[in-house]
Amino acid sequence: MRIQNYSKALQNPVFKIIAEAATELDLECYVIGGYVRDFLLERGQAKDIDIVAVGSGILLAQKVASKMEGKPQVSIFKNFGTAMIKSGDVEVEFVGARKESYDRDSRKPMVENGTLEDDQKRRDFTINALALSLNTSNYGDLLDPFDGLGDLERKLIRTPLAPGVTYSDDPLRMMRAIRFATQLGFTIQLRSLQAITEHKARIKIISSERIVDELHKILASKKPSTGFALLHKTELLPYILPELVALQGIEEIEGQRHKDNFWHTLEVVDNIAQTTDNLWLRWAALLHDIGKAPTKKFHKKIGWTFHGHEFVGSKMVYKLFKRLRMPLNDKMKFVQKMVLMSSRPIVLSEDSTTDSAVRRLVFDAGDHVDDLMTLCEADITTKNPKKQRRYKNNFQLVRQKITEVEERDQIRNFQPPISGADIMKAFQIEPSKKIGIIKEAIKEAILEGEIPNEYAAARKYMIEKGSELGLQLKKK
Ligand code: CTP
Repeated sequence: MRIQNYSKALQNPVFKIIAEAATELDLECYVIGGYVRDFLLERGQAKDIDIVAVGSGILLAQKVASKMEGKPQVSIFKNFGTAMIKSGDVEVEFVGARKESYDRDSRKPMVENGTLEDDQKRRDFTINALALSLNTSNYGDLLDPFDGLGDLERKLIRTPLAPGVTYSDDPLRMMRAIRFATQLGFTIQLRSLQAITEHKARIKIISSERIVDELHKILASKKPSTGFALLHKTELLPYILPELVALQGIEEIEGQRHKDNFWHTLEVVDNIAQTTDNLWLRWAALLHDIGKAPTKKFHKKIGWTFHGHEFVGSKMVYKLFKRLRMPLNDKMKFVQKMVLMSSRPIVLSEDSTTDSAVRRLVFDAGDHVDDLMTLCEADITTKNPKKQRRYKNNFQLVRQKITEVEERDQIRNFQPPISGADIMKAFQIEPSKKIGIIKEAIKEAILEGEIPNEYAAARKYMIEKGSELGLQLKKK
């Protein structure tokens, strides 16, 4: 087989420095993995460069750093036998070629030195085992013993060794297979897919952080449903997001059916992926219906209901984030809010929308009202073109009303024109329940459109409400 040369992939000056350092240390070294794959896929120059040395990766890294301008620091991870140099926005990671097998109960490899090919064999996929030589004798040559190049052309995810071996060595690779298939639009080889199902329970030894990392990447893809459908098909999903699995299926009682909320959810996620890159809004789309499984009920007269699923769902978001060790911060609160409010614009678009209802929506959603509308628009999955057009138009009208109401009433991030301190001063009273009552009444009057969102009108209203409560304005 003719060896192909890709020295054009090695334009970053760091490669020449690595090559020189390797010659001085008299060891072979190669660029391997994602950098080579992404170059061949024309996905642009990756920022992470993985170097494998036939010898000590740590020694090579130290030599490289000593030759680099500014002598960057080398971070050494002794346990893994790896070292890392950061130079600008590029990260170069060095590892010694290994012949390894993993401890069954953890991801800790038991390492032995090996050749390049030993190392390539132990990598996850053929497309990630592609290596480019940095050695003087064959600089830029592609070393591809498992036909990774062919798999790139065939768009195939395949393991270099028998899939069962590769996946039990490191079960995270089951998620990686699905993530790469989703990101790259590749197919997972059938044998590999079957091996994932066979080894699915081993995912339990993988940390939540790593699983979530892969979920983020799946969600950030162009068509995230590919990944979730594969997680479902391989039966990994119950270990990761059982809340979604619970949405799958259609029940029928007395001829009445509800939609399959799992497949519906995946459509919503794909829809939203077309309109936003906001990862947390994509999470909200994924979780917007999770409250439907525990709230599902059948009533003889009205059929299937999911009463209160938005509230229940928003509570489930917290538990899910906690279980997956995701941040319990403003991102989580945002997802909760989206889930909680996910039906509000729908109700609005169905009724003849009143200004006060729109004002309340804007008040409750605050800065996230646009995101909420984006979520609701993505939620339209009807296959009936007439209905689809009608729903879209209705949401367009709601959006228009939001803009009008906002321009006129400035309700977003509403701060009442009269504060509690203003009320205390006007009536010369100490902090008390009455202040809260007056404040709430002013807010309600503004949201209901009884008074404009302005100081003078609010003050007048405050005086009226105060007198109803037996308070007199104190003259200065
Ligand atoms: N690798 C592996 N098994 C893993 C993780 C990584 O065999 N569980 C190998 C692969 O050869 C991979 C390389 O290590 O290409 C680098 O891993 P990583 O940086 O995590 O992934 P990339 O392939 O570079 O891709 P991405 O940056 O998109 O995650």
